[in-house]
Amino acid sequence: MTAAPHIPVLLEAVLAGISPTSGASVVDGTFGAGGYTRAVLAAGAGHVYAFDRDPTAIAAGEALTGANPDRLTLIHERFSLMDRALEARGVSTVDAIMLDIGVSSMQIDQAARGFSFQADGPLDMRMSNEGPSAADLVNTMDETALADLLYRYGEEPRSRRVASHIVAARPIARTGELAAIVRKALGHRPGAPKDPATRTFQALRIAVNDELGELDAGLRAAERLLRPGGRLAVVSFHSLEDRAVKRFLRTRSGGDPQGSRHLPEARIGGSAPTFEAAKAVRPDAAEIAANPRARSATLRIGTRTDAPAWKDDA
Ligand SMILES: C[S@@+](CC[C@H](N)C(=O)[O-])C[C@H]1O[C@@H](n2cnc3c(N)ncnc32)[C@H](O)[C@@H]1O
Repeated sequence: MTAAPHIPVLLEAVLAGISPTSGASVVDGTFGAGGYTRAVLAAGAGHVYAFDRDPTAIAAGEALTGANPDRLTLIHERFSLMDRALEARGVSTVDAIMLDIGVSSMQIDQAARGFSFQADGPLDMRMSNEGPSAADLVNTMDETALADLLYRYGEEPRSRRVASHIVAARPIARTGELAAIVRKALGHRPGAPKDPATRTFQALRIAVNDELGELDAGLRAAERLLRPGGRLAVVSFHSLEDRAVKRFLRTRSGGDPQGSRHLPEARIGGSAPTFEAAKAVRPDAAEIAANPRARSATLRIGTRTDAPAWKDDA
């Protein structure tokens, strides 16, 4: 299969949101194909520190570093560790941080990476190529725990049925096998708008890469790293991620913690607001027509205040 190029999502809105002034230092937490990084360099940023946990994304970015040796540093690391990785390089604050959560087209399009239910490949899904794979999870998890995982991370309403079909068919080695098992479990009308395997694949991918844990830790790392007035831009692609970003920004901007009616002084962490949150931005019809992957994207922007970062358990 020929890989489609990765088209950056909500790029103009991200640029407007972080408004990288000339000479600004910017973190791109999810380098991918480098779409955001290229745009920020073109807009005049002084230095971009670009992270990706996928070694192939970092290797593919070497040419861009070659063209911008003094303005781009590529770092093969998870964005949850961005503040520590930059501290090790003598950088303690930055002007802006961008996160474009999820998988890239390059990852989805390479059947050998095992992310896709549309192309057969090994059931892998590891962005970093390390740790347990999706095959390890489906072949070893207890049926109830597997059903819970599909329900929680895939929002699969018939998770128990899917889990029982998976367990009955083990061992499963290929994405094609897993997709066929889920379709059989749930019934598949060819031509239906959504493949029944979508939710199961999303759930496994989130679990394999601990995506929600990474997002939570990444937002906290961004809070520690941004200078007062600095901007955080986060693009997410499904409701679980967007809910986590929205909740973080609402809590950190002084909103009611966890939806409770606690008085401000009882706020968890007892800390002053660290962000001002702007309204969510979604792609317009023209962007969705040009790039269907943008369909479910949401951008949230936060501006860092000068209050100290909250304690880790807040
Ligand atoms: C949607 S793509 C980013 C695309 C990029 N904005 C562009 O314009 O080309 C997401 C990328 O983030 C990487 N990624 C996902 N989670 C990560 C994490 N926790 N730490 C570092 N990189 C991560 C993935 O490997 C993937 O390459």
